[in-house]
Amino acid sequence: MTLAWGRHYAMVEPEHFRIDYAINPFMDLADQPDLQLALLQWEVLVGTLEGLGATVDVLPQRPDAPDMVYAMNLGLAVGRPDGAQRVVMSHMRHPQRRIETGSAAAWFARSGRPAAYVGREGVGPAFEAGDAFPFGDALVVGHGPRTDELALKALATELGVRVRGVRTTHPGMYHLDLAFCPLDERRAIICPDAFDAASAQALLALVGEPLVITEEEALTTFCANSVVVGDTVVMPGCPEHVRVRLEAWGFAVRIVDVTEFHKGGGSVRCLTNPLDITLGRDLPVVPGGDVVLPPRMS
Ligand code: ARG
Repeated sequence: MTLAWGRHYAMVEPEHFRIDYAINPFMDLADQPDLQLALLQWEVLVGTLEGLGATVDVLPQRPDAPDMVYAMNLGLAVGRPDGAQRVVMSHMRHPQRRIETGSAAAWFARSGRPAAYVGREGVGPAFEAGDAFPFGDALVVGHGPRTDELALKALATELGVRVRGVRTTHPGMYHLDLAFCPLDERRAIICPDAFDAASAQALLALVGEPLVITEEEALTTFCANSVVVGDTVVMPGCPEHVRVRLEAWGFAVRIVDVTEFHKGGGSVRCLTNPLDITLGRDLPVVPGGDVVLPPRMS
């Protein structure tokens, strides 16, 4: 069964994309993106998603928020079975990105998604939406570099879902979406090296058929930072064994060059924010919420 979500995205037009500060190991103020090329790459990504039948809604970029182009981190939008929409806003770890939240919340509100918060303006737990994706019976949430463990309970309660927490330990895979990409109901790309041993084991056990990639593959190709539209995986790059496996499973691979955005530490997934995750369809409703952590290993 193909994923039901992933056919509607919010994206930020990268008019003011640049590297003003370094908050992840990829960012280097001496290695600035070529803005014209970045705009072109972004337009090709939009065209590719639309060509596959997805809808893209575009937000303007704040001139003072160079990382806002990584729309995935603005917030986690979730629909209810009755059609009501909402968004849990990110509470960015780094103060440099908190300026994005007000503009994004206003945009989400205008599009019919009122905002909820697990933390705000430096108070309460950090949460970045690139750390949260539905898979199987739960919202899988990575915590460590960008999201606090305390946010798991807040998300579970706020949304009324099961949250499965995994601890990220790799500084280069600072968001879950750099190491984990749900492909369909029982398959996902996973880089176990991103997580502590118990979390890697729990994630591999949760996914019926994991497509395992190495640390080097994750960091050099960003191949886990892909999006899935039906049976097509839109990827920034794809190691040969990954392509062979995806095609054997019946997926088509579409490569889109977004290398200018790798300079800020993000790729295809980071540039897109799915707006069609639906409770009761993609994420079972668990009244009151519930948090599951991997058993401690001795
Ligand atoms: N420069 C951005 C940051 O460090 C990159 C965000 C990448 N986004 C993602 N969903 N992994 O916050």
